[in-house]
Amino acid sequence: MRILITGATGLVGREIVKQCHARDISINYLTTSKDKIASKDDYKGFYWNPSSNKIDLNCFEGVSAIINLAGASISQRWTPKNKKRILASRIDSLRTLHRGLKEFGADSITSFVSASAIGIYPDSLTNYYTEENQEVDDSFLGKVAETWEHEIDKFLYFPFNVTKIRIGLVLSADGGALPEMAKPIKNYVGAAFGSGNQWQSWIHVSDLARMFIFSIENQLVGVFNGVAPNPVNNNKLVKEIASALKRPLFLPNIPHFAMKLILGQMSYLLFASQRVSSKKIEEEGFQFNYTNVCMALRQIYQHASQEKTSKVSYSNEYSS
Ligand SMILES: NC(=O)c1ccc[n+]([C@@H]2O[C@H](COP(=O)([O-])OP(=O)(O)OC[C@H]3O[C@@H](n4cnc5c(N)ncnc54)[C@H](OP(=O)(O)O)[C@@H]3O)[C@@H](O)[C@H]2O)c1
Repeated sequence: MRILITGATGLVGREIVKQCHARDISINYLTTSKDKIASKDDYKGFYWNPSSNKIDLNCFEGVSAIINLAGASISQRWTPKNKKRILASRIDSLRTLHRGLKEFGADSITSFVSASAIGIYPDSLTNYYTEENQEVDDSFLGKVAETWEHEIDKFLYFPFNVTKIRIGLVLSADGGALPEMAKPIKNYVGAAFGSGNQWQSWIHVSDLARMFIFSIENQLVGVFNGVAPNPVNNNKLVKEIASALKRPLFLPNIPHFAMKLILGQMSYLLFASQRVSSKKIEEEGFQFNYTNVCMALRQIYQHASQEKTSKVSYSNEYSS
């Protein structure tokens, strides 16, 4: 089997590639950076430039499923220019893929699975969101996710399965929000944000990657939340990160206005609250390896410190 991935070089993509290789699934991937192109049989890169609708059609050769993760990072100042880039990168990528598939032909494709985000759900301390919810958050993030999903729906034109995974806060030592949250805690200046009551629907990166592969292998169709079964509030998350890092927490929570001064509109990311259900994918038979945040964080930090130790002993071995 061969899967085409866009955004394969990012945090989630790298984990999906790793898990696919462990299952003997080969990868073609589209990248916007020519210097990230590799040409191994099980990991073949192809250049594309979605902003000018440019795509190498050879990327579809031998492919039976597509995973779409491409998009400029939302963790950058939300200036008008960056906001435009965040939205356009997602829409242009989907349009370029759509046109490429029309031109190449989609007969061999059985599944198209795309990332979306739980930022689509309205900010709320009390709601518990399932995929049935139709309301959209009245924020830049809500608008991005809604427009993104609308564009994904255009793939229903093709005869293959179309699946959207609304991703929550991805926990990994290798990138994303966790290392940023952990930095002040490691330096003894960590604290929760605002009231700390805002819900954070997190997921371990390895469960999320398995979910993408699961939806292809089980031919899922429709929307699924990409979150673990037990969301936590920000107070609890920060406390568990501190505990996993063996650091004390003694500072008062950081007020919203302070973060707004530092991060501008992007501070919304730290204060928005979405409590999201994982029930639908579990009912399809998906089993999470990391159901509680304490377990997930311990695995992440244990694994990171083991990797560090093995790198040190490797370099000692080769320098002696
Ligand atoms: N991580 C999270 O907590 C989280 C939460 C909710 C939703 N998501 C969504 O899930 C997807 C994957 O997340 P991630 O954390 O793996 O993201 P990531 O690490 O930022 O990777 C995204 C990839 O998209 C590609 N990309 C960047 N700018 C692009 C552009 N202008 N046009 C086309 N492609 C571009 C890059 O690949 P190349 O350089 O190879 O082109 C990059 O490696 C993203 O769309 C993200 O918004 C993530």
